[in-house]
Amino acid sequence: MDINKETMLTEIENAKTLNELNELKIKFLGKKSELAIAMSKTGTLPVEERAAYGAKINVIRKEITSAIDAKQIKLEEEEVHSKLIKEKVDISLPGYNYSQGSKAILNATIDEITDILIGMGYECKEGPEVEQDLYNFEMMNVPKGHPARDMQDTFYITENLLLRSQTSPVQARSMLEANGVAPIKMFCPGKVFRRDDDDATHSHQFTQMEGLVIDKHISMSDLKGTLEVIARKMFGAKREVRFRSSYFPFTEPSVEVDVSCFACGGKNASCSICKGTGWIEILGAGMVHPNVLKMGGFDPSVYQGFAFGMGIERIAMLRYGIDDIRNLYSNDIRVAKQFLKEE
Ligand code: DAH
Repeated sequence: MDINKETMLTEIENAKTLNELNELKIKFLGKKSELAIAMSKTGTLPVEERAAYGAKINVIRKEITSAIDAKQIKLEEEEVHSKLIKEKVDISLPGYNYSQGSKAILNATIDEITDILIGMGYECKEGPEVEQDLYNFEMMNVPKGHPARDMQDTFYITENLLLRSQTSPVQARSMLEANGVAPIKMFCPGKVFRRDDDDATHSHQFTQMEGLVIDKHISMSDLKGTLEVIARKMFGAKREVRFRSSYFPFTEPSVEVDVSCFACGGKNASCSICKGTGWIEILGAGMVHPNVLKMGGFDPSVYQGFAFGMGIERIAMLRYGIDDIRNLYSNDIRVAKQFLKEE
């Protein structure tokens, strides 16, 4: 038997790939291998030699088999290892910069005021933008022919249907919905419409936020305290609020509300925000008119209320120093990103 075991073991040891090893397996252990041929000769030997001869071949076979198995494990490990190295992710590479969207300034401002009011126990309400004259005017104490209708140049659709000129009709709707049961504590952000020529400070469509509280023992000081909290959260902890008497048909008394200037604190005579007055007008407000309470189903001798209404565009423009209202309606993400910090 001239089987050179050492040569086989060396060839196995030198195999570089699993494929090469597989070929050696066929060559050394397959049907046409030297070992198989040698084994097939067993029958030709004298009987007394057969067992020893067979055993000898089997020992070699086992040795070759286990050398191949060991080499296979080694090559497989090497393959996995080199794959891992090749497929390694370089986590130090900078990622792709996918640019993200941004909240629009108006929505961010609405969200901010909404958070403040929700925190004070108010409920957020909605009302239709195509509104009835009844809610927009009549139930707000502005009957047909009332001169106050001229204050709001309104888009009429029919005689009794219009694009709401204010969010105040949602006051009337909320009162009717409450069915005479107090308290009501609601606010309503939304779009309103007026026949205005668009320019840097006017828009035929803009945004308001209405607030309404109705209960027993509600007084003007509740209104002032509430507006102070809102103003300080929006414009800074040191802000003061002042009332100037005014007129709205749905409130009596009515006030216009100013906040002390957050830009100069009243110290800069040429401040562009407060025009040197130290005060900035931010909203209209007042005690709910008895007629409005009555029409809404509340007895004015038992219940009182306060209401306020603000223009969101004005607040946003003041806060972010935006001088053209049209920027707020721009679809250009750079406008929003310029003013809002990424969240
Ligand atoms: N609706 C008024 C307007 O559009 C704003 C307003 C003023 C709302 C006083 C109120 C209020 O609720 O009490 O000019």
